[in-house]
Amino acid sequence: MSESFDLVVIGAGPGGYVASIRAAQLGLRVACVERESALGGTCLRVGCIPSKALLESSERYEETRNGLKQHGVLTGDVTLDLPAMLRRKDSVVLALTKGVEGLFKKNRITRITGQARITGPKRVVVTGAKETVELDAKTILIATGSQSTPLPGVEVDNDRIGTSTEALTYPEVPGHLVVIGAGYIGLELGSVWRRLGSRVTVLEYLDRILPGMDAELAAEARKVFEKQGIEFRLKTKVTGAKVLNGRCTVRLNDDDVMDCDRVLLAVGRRPNTEGLGLETVGIQPDERGRISVDERFQTTASGIHAVGDVIAGPMLAHKAEEEGVAFAEMLVTGHGHVDYGVIPGIVYTHPEIATVGRSEEELQSAGVAYRKGVFPFMANGRARALGHTEGRVKILADATTDRVLGVHIIGPHAGDLIAEAAAAMTFGASSEDIARCCHAHPTLSEALKEAAMAVEGRAIHF
Ligand code: NAI
Repeated sequence: MSESFDLVVIGAGPGGYVASIRAAQLGLRVACVERESALGGTCLRVGCIPSKALLESSERYEETRNGLKQHGVLTGDVTLDLPAMLRRKDSVVLALTKGVEGLFKKNRITRITGQARITGPKRVVVTGAKETVELDAKTILIATGSQSTPLPGVEVDNDRIGTSTEALTYPEVPGHLVVIGAGYIGLELGSVWRRLGSRVTVLEYLDRILPGMDAELAAEARKVFEKQGIEFRLKTKVTGAKVLNGRCTVRLNDDDVMDCDRVLLAVGRRPNTEGLGLETVGIQPDERGRISVDERFQTTASGIHAVGDVIAGPMLAHKAEEEGVAFAEMLVTGHGHVDYGVIPGIVYTHPEIATVGRSEEELQSAGVAYRKGVFPFMANGRARALGHTEGRVKILADATTDRVLGVHIIGPHAGDLIAEAAAAMTFGASSEDIARCCHAHPTLSEALKEAAMAVEGRAIHF
């Protein structure tokens, strides 16, 4: 069987399914190839969504056990029904992946299940469980995402020693969970299992957690997580891990050994480019496996484009979505845009950590003069009422123009608060613009306004 399409998208994650929908909205005949039975990619199936479901459930468990007394709410014995918690997570995932299926139908996108391989500039062959399909495509979009990076010496058995995928389905609460890597995944899933009762040790190669994030914020985050009971061993290089008689042994710095129940390997992700047939069209991934593209997401092969985790930039679902939309709009209308300077990053721990724009270290090393306004949640009325007063908002503004260059938040609902900062920065706001916007009282967003006022040294409540 052979079919023709205007656009064949390989991969139905946030980059691919969003590009498919936007292209279909703009009138193209679109096919989207996905090897998994569910649509939505890593993010929906085994990433952002299931981890957020578990973060929510585990937070409620911990809050009910330890946080309600201060509100005058007394409970009896609080126990954990882990299978029910995992079932709820699965049902959240199912509803959302079915939702994408519905969107595909509504937009008349042809969904093809199987492994796609590019066999020529305008040709894709899909090997499915039952049949092989050949597709003719005017344009091909590669949106195949990424997978966990292995670590030499760490023998992943996808059970006791596994990645984030396994850490979303542990059948029992591990007595001692060792997490390798103090990045997004390590801190989020480490938090889930600590709240559910595990002893959690995070091993990190660098001398800090959350590399790339504003250092002051990361240092504060570390203190908060340590207070919650997560143990950190920084400047620790993991050189091996293996399972023996149902227990795991982790080798550190070549001279130390740690024994534990489970290991979560979270040292980053690498692009999925193997088996795609890139060599048939002369595409050569770089040393980190990424596909090079120009500003129109065009690879070195004419008519073949790429977005999301397979190209450079942060491996974030919303970055991939922005690229998917921009790609489709450029293809059809000639215009599309992604503002890479204002892509927020959020760690969904408690408190949340959210950041957009440049960190202090980045500004310093670029020699940019800036002014800084900080406001602690301790001095915010709503945070007090919530009982979540840890953290702060930090705004960095250009010393000459006052244009906002970076906003960094650790605190309650930081992930939602950062949206205002991203919108303001997208419109080129100054700190004074934010300071002069009326923010409702009592809300957490007032902390952003006060931090903006603090840039001028005129915060009212601190
Ligand atoms: P990451 O890049 O965030 O962190 C990996 C950490 O592992 C780094 O701190 C690194 O220094 C450390 N590391 C590397 N080699 C090591 C070694 N041998 N021993 C000890 N530590 C070592 O990667 P992570 O957490 O695996 O996440 C992968 C990707 O998924 C990230 O790019 C992230 O953007 C994305 N993600 C985003 C989430 C969100 O937006 N909330 C949630 C989860 C993942």
